[in-house]
Amino acid sequence: MGALCSQERSPEEGPPTGWRGRGWGALVRRALLAALLSGLLLGSFVLSVYVFRGCGPRLCETPRCWDLLAGYLASGNTTVAPCSDFFSFACGKAKGDSSSFQALTEANKGRLRRILEAPGSWPPGSGEEKAFQFYNSCMDTRAIEAAGAGPLRQVIQELGGWQISGNWTPLDFNRTLSLLMSQYDHFPFFRAYLQPHPTPPHRPVIQIDQPEFDIPPKQDQEQQIYAQIVREYLNYLTLLVTLLGGDPVKVENYAFSSISITSRLSQFLRPLEQQQAQGKLFHMVTVEQLQEMAPAIDWLSCLQATFAPMPLNRSQPLVVHDLEYLKNMSQLVEEQMLNNRDLLQSHMILGLVGTLSPALGSQFQEARRRLTQKLQELTEQPPVPARPRWMECVEKTGTFFRPTLAAFFVREAFSPSTQSAAMELFAAIKDAFVTRLRRVPWMDEQTQKQAQDRASRLQVKMGAPEWALKPEQARQEYADIQLGPNFLRSFLSCARSLRARNVRSFLQPSHRSWQVSPWEASAYYSVADHAVVLPAGLLQPPFFHPSFPRAVNFGAAGSIMARELLRVFSPLLLPGGCPSCDSQALQGARLCLERLYAAFPLPGGTFSGTFLESAADVGALAIAQQAYSQRLHGPRGETTLPDLGLRPQQLFFHSYAQVMCQALGSRAALDTHNPPALRVHGPLSNTPAFARHFRCPHGTPLNPSNRCQLW
Ligand SMILES: *[C@@H]1O[C@H](CO)[C@@H](O)[C@H](O)[C@H]1NC(C)=O
Ligand SMILES: *[C@@H]1O[C@H](CO)[C@@H](O)[C@H](O)[C@H]1NC(C)=O
Ligand SMILES: *[C@@H]1O[C@H](CO)[C@@H](O)[C@H](O)[C@H]1NC(C)=O
Ligand SMILES: *[C@@H]1O[C@H](CO)[C@@H](O)[C@H](O)[C@H]1NC(C)=O
Repeated sequence: MGALCSQERSPEEGPPTGWRGRGWGALVRRALLAALLSGLLLGSFVLSVYVFRGCGPRLCETPRCWDLLAGYLASGNTTVAPCSDFFSFACGKAKGDSSSFQALTEANKGRLRRILEAPGSWPPGSGEEKAFQFYNSCMDTRAIEAAGAGPLRQVIQELGGWQISGNWTPLDFNRTLSLLMSQYDHFPFFRAYLQPHPTPPHRPVIQIDQPEFDIPPKQDQEQQIYAQIVREYLNYLTLLVTLLGGDPVKVENYAFSSISITSRLSQFLRPLEQQQAQGKLFHMVTVEQLQEMAPAIDWLSCLQATFAPMPLNRSQPLVVHDLEYLKNMSQLVEEQMLNNRDLLQSHMILGLVGTLSPALGSQFQEARRRLTQKLQELTEQPPVPARPRWMECVEKTGTFFRPTLAAFFVREAFSPSTQSAAMELFAAIKDAFVTRLRRVPWMDEQTQKQAQDRASRLQVKMGAPEWALKPEQARQEYADIQLGPNFLRSFLSCARSLRARNVRSFLQPSHRSWQVSPWEASAYYSVADHAVVLPAGLLQPPFFHPSFPRAVNFGAAGSIMARELLRVFSPLLLPGGCPSCDSQALQGARLCLERLYAAFPLPGGTFSGTFLESAADVGALAIAQQAYSQRLHGPRGETTLPDLGLRPQQLFFHSYAQVMCQALGSRAALDTHNPPALRVHGPLSNTPAFARHFRCPHGTPLNPSNRCQLW
């Protein structure tokens, strides 16, 4: 009977050029027939019927599986032929602008919202209590409206006031700048942040970079458009000042000069391509050297205030990204100090209002939203959809109280059993990759060995950082946060505490590798730790759950893991990335992939997707598929979803595609991936097992005659 039941099982999938699967199928059929005949001969017909029914996969009928099924049914259009357009088969009815990753992140934020809105009582002064209080004061729009512009006016007074509202002291430039940077998180002339050094061993270092401007640089715009941009920005600044009680007639002068400072500063920017062409993306300079080159700023005291408690002196090395910009900026500041001191002061404060507007009342936010919207229209950027207040508040609470919310989220959504199941999945994917490495046709033996070695040393970090989950830790983290008396004050106190915490954690190497919050649905590779980081937020339904059919977990989460793994090795594919490899074979595989992808024309012309992304997609599916077929349990061990009519191996591909589901034509402007339909069809058409399990006739789009092997 064991032999009978192996009908569902296919042996390990070889590389695309290898095994075709016919011989085995025939063998099984013959064995089946023989068994049937002998069954009949023995007269035990009943037994064979029992065997037949028993051989099908079990159905997963847990509530989680029903939810998953509902999602699959809602997005797929099963009237489409899977062999010609699998994307529509799986995603044809998908709606909304967001990708499945964005949708999952939003769902995770919804879970945090439910946690933050549930009644609870926490020890006074604890991190939990502060997080709840902060969230509640963020949601308390009535109190925020009632306070109006008062809290902001108070901040301006602390900075020495400004001429617009009367009652001001002349500008002490260095003091004001240092306060803006350290107390109000505002960087009017340059940005300074602590991040790993661009080159190994990636030690944290203070980096100085161009600032972010509210308006796009003049040189990037047509003159007419730029004039409109300036007009919109002028309206915005005028409105701000009016909201702050300034005289609208006097305001215009200040607003105009602020715009002219911004516009001159942005003319100093060197585009990234130019920096690249000059071969210098950054300079290493000491504070002292920078002081000589850009003397208008008191660098040491500004940086000391901003990066406290980090000890800094004049010989501190800094990474400077655009030295020319800083020199010109310094000249401009000196010139303004001589001629237009008051205007420089109001420029700095007007910029601050923009930075703080998320913590202000609805009129300030609305002004900002309108400005953003107008600028997007003028520069033809796709609009960013407005988010509900609760989501903004969850995000802010998450930024300021990350360890606390991480602990809440993990407790709710990432149990130890989920984690160990996910670890097992990752191990299976890694194994399959290491096995595959032996058969990569363009790799020489030594590179293969090195790659296998690197792969075996690769770490995985899952769920949330360990430190975040220690409750006593989360409690101590926020000792310096003072909440109240109004939301703006709470916001500023949290922002300061966060920066000090970041500085402290950067000085301890163990905290480094978590760049995303545990509830976000995105994975990444941390070069510094040689680790793939998979936050708890990613390992959630519909991508992963221990109770899902394994086909779903391998197809969805498994292929995501495999893609992250491949990113580590992608540089080998670049020109010069592997001098000892067979460059002809690699070039051949590359051309093959280009031809494969060219078979899928896209609405709106062909898309020259990035080679590395396509190679990673194709490789990831192959690895996940191999891992899944190597670990197929007997047919009774595999489950599938009810009502879909898909066998486990078919479900695997459906789940792979499901990850990419997104309404057609709704790609975000910044998305560097291939369009979703191509990310489904490219890899599927390169996978013989897909054609086999869906019985695609030869020559249909998803069963082409040629296949390529990159990984
Ligand atoms: C499903 O696909 C069929 C065939 O391509 C098409 O006619 C139909 O409009 C699709 N349904 C939806 C809801 O998109
Ligand atoms: C920046 O300063 C340099 C040296 O003073 C000068 O030659 C250059 O023209 C300035 N750049 C701009 C865009 O003003
Ligand atoms: C800021 O401080 C530096 C260093 O002390 C000084 O050279 C510079 O003139 C000051 N800047 C202004 C605008 O006063
Ligand atoms: C500056 O700081 C560095 C590292 O903190 C230290 O090694 C060095 O001795 C200090 N230099 C001076 C002149 O104090």
